[in-house]
Amino acid sequence: MEQAIPATMHAMTIQAYGQKNVEKTTVPTPAIGKDDVLVKILAAGVNSVDFKIRDGRLKLLIDYPMPLILGNDLAGIVAAVGDNVREFAVGDAVYGRADKDRMGTFAEYIAIKKQHLAKKPPHLNFTESASLPLAALTAYQALHERMKLQAGDKVLIHAGAGGVGTAAIQIAKAMGLFVATTASAAGRALVERLGADLIIDYKTEDFSEQLRGYDGVLDTLGGDALRKSFRVVKRGAKVVSVSAVPTAQLADEWGLPFYKKILFALASAPLHLAAKKHGAVYDFLFMRPDGGQLAEIGAWAEQGKVLPVIDKVFAFDDTQQALAYSEQGRAKGKIVIKIADE
Ligand SMILES: NC(=O)c1ccc[n+]([C@@H]2O[C@H](COP(=O)([O-])OP(=O)(O)OC[C@H]3O[C@@H](n4cnc5c(N)ncnc54)[C@H](OP(=O)(O)O)[C@@H]3O)[C@@H](O)[C@H]2O)c1
Repeated sequence: MEQAIPATMHAMTIQAYGQKNVEKTTVPTPAIGKDDVLVKILAAGVNSVDFKIRDGRLKLLIDYPMPLILGNDLAGIVAAVGDNVREFAVGDAVYGRADKDRMGTFAEYIAIKKQHLAKKPPHLNFTESASLPLAALTAYQALHERMKLQAGDKVLIHAGAGGVGTAAIQIAKAMGLFVATTASAAGRALVERLGADLIIDYKTEDFSEQLRGYDGVLDTLGGDALRKSFRVVKRGAKVVSVSAVPTAQLADEWGLPFYKKILFALASAPLHLAAKKHGAVYDFLFMRPDGGQLAEIGAWAEQGKVLPVIDKVFAFDDTQQALAYSEQGRAKGKIVIKIADE
């Protein structure tokens, strides 16, 4: 049954970068444009990017106006649709990743472009569904679009027990890949259950001494792990990082000012050089929302090939604790905030 849309809503906001304590504020419920869907959010996934944005660490890439509602992932119910929206109707269960320019899922409602949403996988609940978009899209875009891996190829996925890693292992297996992953003893059983073929304990072993001839690496760590990753791939293979330095290509794709392109070119030059020394290619991915890809991921979820891995669920009022837990960097799978009852 259709419910009235309130004029205001609760949202978890910051007033300035670096503000560690998010505040529960009352703000206007967002208005929708012709191509938008207004979603009543029931659950919101937490990602490392949330505390990084809070701390202003992405400011060079994107500088948000304040106050800012945090949060990127969502699952919920369509509350209203814009004039051009035929794909979704009021009452549909949906999930998605908000556009980087219009984030704000730690809130009761969000206005989101229709192309950034997909129908929620029917067998998953809202909490499970909200855990998937950002991490699964990152993995999909890295393995499929950037590395163009084919069944039988070998991939190394760093931090297999984390939010991106748990999605990436499953997507890689759904693509028919051989998967090596790094994990500590605490994450070993999890990555094994998800189907990793070769598990390297990063606390006691050096992956770069064990692996050779790989077709790609998904780097979620940067630093030493990234630099050593260039050694393990075949000539011409890609090491795609989601956590190191952006490239000049990203500045172009995003239409950033020329000085930022030069800055990224200079900052990423040592990585391009290090990659070249080993015949590898360095690439940086900043994932993008994509409802079509989410529908594919949802189909895999329905087939049991890509299933949510949830570490902890927090109440809406405990968003602060959810971000602090994410910041510790020890999660096994995903963290989700329950915004409203299903
Ligand atoms: N550019 C993009 O579009 C994009 C998208 C998504 C994520 N990211 C970035 O990707 C990174 C990972 O995100 P996430 O959400 O997956 O993080 P996460 O869930 O916080 O990762 C935590 C996991 O990483 C493991 N870990 C920590 N250090 C490790 C190491 N040296 N080797 C292997 N595993 C290690 C931990 O295992 P133990 O506790 O057992 O050590 C823990 O299980 C973040 O920097 C995030 O910002 C970027």
